Parts: sequence; structure tokens; C-alpha cells
Amino acid sequence: MMQTVGIALLGVGTIGSAVLRTIAAEREALAQRTGFALEVRWGLARHPERVVQAGLPEWAATTSIDPILEDPTVAVVVEAMGGEEPAATYLKRALTAGKHVVTANKEALSKHFAELVDTARRHQRALLFEASVGAGIPLMASLRQLLMVNRIYRIRGIVNGTTNYILTVMAEEGMPYQEALREAQRLGYAEPDPTADVEGYDAAYKLSILASLAAGRHIRPDYVERRGITTVTPDQILDARARGGAMKLIAQAELFDGSWHLSVQPVFVPGSDLLAHVRLNLNAIELTGDRVGTVVLYGPGAGPAPTASALIADTIDAVRFGAALLPTLELPA
Ligand SMILES: NC(=O)c1ccc[n+]([C@@H]2O[C@H](COP(=O)([O-])OP(=O)(O)OC[C@H]3O[C@@H](n4cnc5c(N)ncnc54)[C@H](OP(=O)(O)O)[C@@H]3O)[C@@H](O)[C@H]2O)c1
Repeated sequence: MMQTVGIALLGVGTIGSAVLRTIAAEREALAQRTGFALEVRWGLARHPERVVQAGLPEWAATTSIDPILEDPTVAVVVEAMGGEEPAATYLKRALTAGKHVVTANKEALSKHFAELVDTARRHQRALLFEASVGAGIPLMASLRQLLMVNRIYRIRGIVNGTTNYILTVMAEEGMPYQEALREAQRLGYAEPDPTADVEGYDAAYKLSILASLAAGRHIRPDYVERRGITTVTPDQILDARARGGAMKLIAQAELFDGSWHLSVQPVFVPGSDLLAHVRLNLNAIELTGDRVGTVVLYGPGAGPAPTASALIADTIDAVRFGAALLPTLELPA
């Protein structure tokens, strides 16, 4: 039997509007495949006209979270606003109000992971975040499966498409950093303010989420030893290429001597390593477990369509599985 699922969408920008477009285009197919008919009841933005421009009716536009939390027909809150606040507070309030939560927001999640999981557990609601790392690459689903049997003791990869794009064009076209950054911005791969990407914050947020899942406790992003790509020189890049490898911004979390060590830094990767061959804005993440060995996931780690794919799949899983998919995370006392 078909079940209707009421959704509130927080943010109707690049990602939020892609969620709306995908639901509109795939409504019938999604219902047929999953048995759930998705209905977007609210769109939240700072500017209500943006909600209407994104394709929702005027009555569905809100600048306040309150009507969403009070609406009993909303089962799932899908967050694609970004930033730490007010997003983190909205997510906690949504869980407390009995809504399942799905988010693409690595910053809010990595900084408030333990509190959010705790709130979801206390209210027996789903908290799903596949889209927050690697966009459409099924990283969380893979980790969830692997962690049932394995101890994951290393995570290593390229998790930021913007910096990988810049390093690739610097290497392949001999472009200086500033020019490569401008090219990335022109193509929409880099934000007008690129700090979060080029200084490694974005990668640190993502690594914090992955490492927290592997460690079974919240490892905050400020614990990550972090260095961005702004100091990488054209000489280093060309030298790496001449040696058959590449300079890459590598995010790595490793358990040794009983402690987790997390870093994001530009390093030389030899040509014999798969990660040296990950070009442009693609991502690749290695997960190493004691039983499974090393598994590599590779694909587009950003972009509206892949991110919307993960958000919508999580929305369906939220209704199907509720709190059953919550991560095992040791919570603060
Ligand atoms: N872009 C990607 O490829 C990608 C991939 C994976 C994950 N993500 C994540 O997805 C999230 C959204 O990214 P995006 O690129 O879609 O951002 P965006 O285009 O800037 O859109 C943000 C949306 O959120 C709304 N918003 C922001 N702050 C708000 C506030 N304080 N109150 C109410 N509404 C607010 C904005 O409202 P207005 O329209 O009124 O300004 C806008 O509709 C971020 O967490 C990002 O890290 C993005």
C-alpha cells in the first residue's frame, strides 16, 4: 500500500532546488520502487520568494522553522541550508518535535554529532547524513555495513572536489594557484569565498564525521591537524608530476597505539597509489577494516544531482527504518 510522506525542506539553494526537481521528475518511479509518495509541504529560506522560484506554492514558503515543527503532517525534515547555525539548532528542534532528520550539512553535523545522535536516540527518530560526505557516493551505507563486522582502523582519501580540481589543473595545465582557483570559481566548483575548501576546513568536517563513525565516539573537527593547499607551489606540483605522482589534499584518519590521528594536508602521492589518479572534482575514499581489507569508493563528491540522490534515498530510509539506523556513538556523560 502506498504511504504518503510529508517533507519539509530547509534551504532551497543549489541542493534544495535539486531535491525538489528530482522529486517532481521521479515521483511516480519513486513511489513504484519504494511504496512511498513524497510530498514537500514546506520550503524554508531567508527569502520566501526563493521557495516559490524553486517550484513550491506560495503557501509552502516560510522563513521560520516554527510552522514546520507544529505541522503533524511533516514526517521528515530535509536540511540543505548549510552553516553551523541556525542549522544545528533547527535539526535538534526537529528531532525533539518528533521529526526524522536528513541532512547534507557536514559543518553542523561534525560540530554537533554527539548531541544530534543523542537527541535522535532519546526521541527515537532517524538522523541520516549520506549527502554530507561524498555527495552521492554511498559512504555511510558502506561504513554502516562494514562496521557491523569490522574494526575500521584507517580512512584515507580525497574528499574535497574543489581543491582536487585546482591541484589537477595546476599539474596538467601548469596554471598558477590563483588562476586555477579563478577557473574553479568560473565553473562553479569553488565558492566566491573559497576559504572553507582551500584551507581544508571542509575536508576536516568530512573526516571528523567518517572518523567518528569508525571510532564510535565524536571526534570533533578541531582535533584534525589541518593544512590547506594555498601554500603548495607550482614547483612542488610539477616536481610531483615529474616523479610520476601527484600532490593531493589527503584526509586521513588512522588508529595506532590505541589513539586516532586525523590530518588533512597536501602530500606527495606516488603514481603506484590509486589516489594519485583521481582527477578534477572527483572524490575517492579508502576504508580499511580488519576483515574486509581496503575498500575504495570513487565518484562525484559534489553537485546537485548526486547530493539530491543521497538526500532522497535517506528520506525513504528514515521512514522505513527510523531510529534503527542511528550510529553507535558513545555519548558524552
Ligand atoms: N553544493 C554541493 O555540491 C553540495 C554537496 C554536498 C553537500 N552540500 C551541502 O548542502 C548544503 C546546502 O548547500 P547549497 O550549495 O545548496 O547552498 P546554497 O545554494 O547557498 O543554499 C542555501 C539555502 O539555505 C537557505 N538558508 C541559508 N541560511 C539560512 C538561514 N539562516 N535561514 C533560512 N534559510 C537559510 C538559503 O536561503 P536564501 O535562498 O533565502 O538565501 C538557501 O535557500 C550545505 O550544507 C552544503 O555543504 C552541498
